[in-house]
Amino acid sequence: MRFLVLLTVLAASLLSCENKEEQGAAMPVKELVGVKGCPYCHDMRRELLGPSFTRISERYSVSDEDALVESLLKGSRGKWGDRGMPPQRLTEEEARLIVRWILGLRDVDSKPHR
Ligand code: HEC
Repeated sequence: MRFLVLLTVLAASLLSCENKEEQGAAMPVKELVGVKGCPYCHDMRRELLGPSFTRISERYSVSDEDALVESLLKGSRGKWGDRGMPPQRLTEEEARLIVRWILGLRDVDSKPHR
């Protein structure tokens, strides 16, 4: 029982730690996305080889973060159409950072009546 409490405290402090690190990230997420070659297949609004980041943000919510991180690390196929996305060369932290950024686009773009 005590172990569980300790684990919970640890997890909580880890989480808050992570947030701080995010703010001090070496480069802005958008730049990271560019460096990693995502714009070759993804535009902010237009469909290219892959769906636009805006559409992805509209289809998923914060609770899908883990699933999207997995899509990036392991690749994805069949969720949007016939074209698949190969696994991306990212660390899990980078993938998570990018996924949070994508999911956040919805708030920025959301209009009152949609
Ligand atoms: C070679 C083209 C290509 C590249 C490069 C690429 N993607 Fe994709 N991406 C796709 C395609 C195609 C899909 C749709 C996959 C599907 O239908 O499951 C997709 C889907 C996604 C999804 C949604 C996954 C899901 O589970 O629905 C996310 C998020 C995403 N891409 C982010 C990125 C990011 C971030 C990068 C850069 C690190 C990237 N993509 C690079 C082609 C690409």
